[in-house]
Amino acid sequence: MKINQVRNVVNREFHCSATSSKQSLLLVALVRAVNHTWCVMGKIITIANQKGGVAKTTTAINLSASLGQLGKKVLVVDLDPQGNTTTGYGIRAEEKKQLKTTSYDVIMGLARPGEAVVGTRFRNVSLMPATGELAEAEIRLLKITDHSTLPAPQGLKTLQLRKALLQIKDEYDIVIIDTLPSLGILALNALAACDSMIIPMQCEPYSLEGVAELFTTVKRVKKSVNKSLQVLGIVFTMTDKRLMINREVIRAIRAKLPADAIFHTEIPRNVKIAEAPSHGEPIVYYAPDSKGADAYLRLAKEVLKRI
Ligand SMILES: Nc1ncnc2c1ncn2[C@@H]1O[C@H](COP(=O)(O)OP(=O)(O)O)[C@@H](O)[C@H]1O
Ligand SMILES: [Mg+2]
Repeated sequence: MKINQVRNVVNREFHCSATSSKQSLLLVALVRAVNHTWCVMGKIITIANQKGGVAKTTTAINLSASLGQLGKKVLVVDLDPQGNTTTGYGIRAEEKKQLKTTSYDVIMGLARPGEAVVGTRFRNVSLMPATGELAEAEIRLLKITDHSTLPAPQGLKTLQLRKALLQIKDEYDIVIIDTLPSLGILALNALAACDSMIIPMQCEPYSLEGVAELFTTVKRVKKSVNKSLQVLGIVFTMTDKRLMINREVIRAIRAKLPADAIFHTEIPRNVKIAEAPSHGEPIVYYAPDSKGADAYLRLAKEVLKRI
């Protein structure tokens, strides 16, 4: 709703022809706050790139924690059997073994999504953890008999996560899904379930080729199970401005793509970011004064502007 529209509605409702400038300012602030809250209700963002080691998990952990610090209620869904997001949020190996319900049960339809969600000790962040069991889902989902007439990659087995998240997404402002490095059935479930996706990209000469493949998948998903899927942007990760090759790749990719296809914020290579997971803490808690924490907070603010 536009500010002018709201001002007119309020004027009409309260039978006054004009509001004072002080009232107007108050109204503008109120409408902005309300608009922003509406904007970010239950938005689902998938972090995807079929290439491994590009900082998908690092981005899922640190973006979600930053959004939580900014006051957004966040659910992080770990959809990688490696469970690194789960570990990065402080759930140790022995605790993982004790988890009764995980994202595996949810995607297989064996449990309600709320049953798999655990709290974290970080502000506003809840987690749907993953364990190695999730690897079985990749095989078992393929065995589901699909009577729909949709050709691959469409079909009901791609919609399992979407069905589940629909039940709980509105309890959160933002849901972040971390995916595994493949374009298999689990990743397709994540793409089918989300409103938009973020593509972390390491600045290497062949990075763009991998992303082209991902965009082909996005096109297929858009044509079939998720027409409204949007690419929120590519985010350059582990950048090192001192390296000439790094700067050249960034410049070349930025020149090739539309300006808004790439986040303005770049995530620098930062040793604190690499250390944080072994302490079970996101960077904004582990090293709040680091360059890494600053970058992920800036990325979170940019994401909030884009959704
Ligand atoms: N900005 C960064 N600075 C330093 N190390 C990073 C940074 N981002 C990611 N890493 C490290 O790179 C490795 C791969 O990151 P990860 O998030 O696991 O990638 P993916 O999930 O795409 O496979 C991890 O060891 C991680 O700690
Ligand atoms: Mg990962």
